[in-house]
Amino acid sequence: MSTYTDEIRKRRTFAIISHPDAGKTTLTEKLLLYGGAINLAGSVKGKRTARHAVSDWMEIEKQRGISVTSSVLQFKYNGYCINILDTPGHEDFSEDTYRTLMAADSAVMVIDGSKGVEKQTIKLFKVCVMRNIPIITFINKMDRDAKNPFDLLEDIENVLGINTYPVNWPIGSGKEFKGVFDRNTEKILAFTANNGQREVEKQEYSLDDPALDEVLGQYLKADFMDEIELLDGAGDEFDLDAVRQGRLTPVFFGSALTNFGVEPFLEQFLQLTTSPLARETVSEEVDPMSEDFSAFVFKIQANMNKAHRDRVAFMRICSGKFEKNMEVFHVQGNKKMRLSQPQQIMAQEREIVDEAYAGDIIGVFDPGIFSIGDTICSPRHKVQFKGIPTFAPEHFARVRQKDTMKRKQFIKGTNQIAQEGAIQIFQELDAGMEEVIVGVVGVLQFDVLKYRLENEYNVDIIMENLPYEYIRWIVNEGLDPKTLDLASDTKRIQDLKGNHLLLFTSYWSIDWALDHNKGLELREFGTN
Ligand code: G4P
Repeated sequence: MSTYTDEIRKRRTFAIISHPDAGKTTLTEKLLLYGGAINLAGSVKGKRTARHAVSDWMEIEKQRGISVTSSVLQFKYNGYCINILDTPGHEDFSEDTYRTLMAADSAVMVIDGSKGVEKQTIKLFKVCVMRNIPIITFINKMDRDAKNPFDLLEDIENVLGINTYPVNWPIGSGKEFKGVFDRNTEKILAFTANNGQREVEKQEYSLDDPALDEVLGQYLKADFMDEIELLDGAGDEFDLDAVRQGRLTPVFFGSALTNFGVEPFLEQFLQLTTSPLARETVSEEVDPMSEDFSAFVFKIQANMNKAHRDRVAFMRICSGKFEKNMEVFHVQGNKKMRLSQPQQIMAQEREIVDEAYAGDIIGVFDPGIFSIGDTICSPRHKVQFKGIPTFAPEHFARVRQKDTMKRKQFIKGTNQIAQEGAIQIFQELDAGMEEVIVGVVGVLQFDVLKYRLENEYNVDIIMENLPYEYIRWIVNEGLDPKTLDLASDTKRIQDLKGNHLLLFTSYWSIDWALDHNKGLELREFGTN
């Protein structure tokens, strides 16, 4: 019988991030195939067809073809228990990605080999680098014409500021794609397309194999030989510590669609990453193997299922074992409680869990008591995890309901969506709640807000974009913002707790405010 520490040692929890269309869904599906979680490739994806990816459950995602919410998929492979956290594929949701990364121990970054690092996801990928967790790169679609692999690596290094170590090296691409050279085994794995099956035929050649001339063709072989010589001389040394600290990303080339290179990737990924690591709290480090249960909330999602109109708090278990009906302590609420309906969620399929271990993600029914960053722990050993930073909103709009009779729903909707961390709401000084100022990190979040208010709360809204780009807290206690001497394009607002803030259109007006108001102290938004 396995003990709970064996269970924890088996865990690998990672987030998967990519540009839309780079192949995240396809890769996830192939990984699930190896784990036997699904039987047939194609059952996960097919966004533009009538079927929808299991990880995409909101209408807006289907319409836009982007993934807005994150879901969790669990599967078993070779004695490991793997948790994949899906993330939105657009930089407008980089804050959501950051939160999800807080729950992960490592990240897989999927890049389209024909495009390299794309502009709209630079921010998203940078957020990944910020977390200092191992990042493993999968350069996908090598069966299509790809950019020069050296340029792809340079792209990653320059744009994201992380060193690269190619674990394997592609030979040609597109119609000329012949396979990859594994730098560790020094074997060439010849390319064979295998779309839907788990078993992949493996054709391996060593570098001195006489058949190689024929397999690669003389021209490609000569090129390839030059390239690996260059690689050995020019590339970064492999350094596992640097990988584990997120300073060096191992890079794999492959093709998710044809199932080429996916299993070797998964196997090496499991070696490169670790089981759940210790997590810092405000006072100590929590050992994942500790017998005392602890977890933190990294995501809150309301109305995942319209029929139930429920709200689910997702928590990452950091230590110990969770058992159904066990008593836990909610630190921020200062209350003992039992978590209701603990579930493991595979997109729309939910399963009630009887037990879960450090590294796992569970979703629990939330009657409105949890906030992002909250700690839940054993009442025997109370700890509090450090909070999850909030990103400063960069876009602002004035929002009000079209129909004043819908005031209640409007307030409820905007508040709930704000509690989930999807938007931040503010008010004009002395204003009521029928009109709010909404701040978001990416403009697409406005679309989500409008869509969700209409669909989940039945409220049509009028949204007027505001020109502000910077937000600052006023630190000085008791200072009446009306007494401040401000540039005409600066706006005074307050948050729902009554804290005063200022909105600016430029750095110039921030300086202006500081110059004209002696003693005024402004704090940048963020970190709670
Ligand atoms: P995403 O989740 O990152 O947004 O990407 P997704 O997996 O949905 O893949 C986007 C498109 O790229 C899909 O084609 C998919 O079949 C294709 N694709 C993924 N991996 C590979 C690969 O290794 N090689 C090639 N050639 N294509 C790949 P689509 O036409 O947009 O969708 P569908 O009609 O196939 O469903």
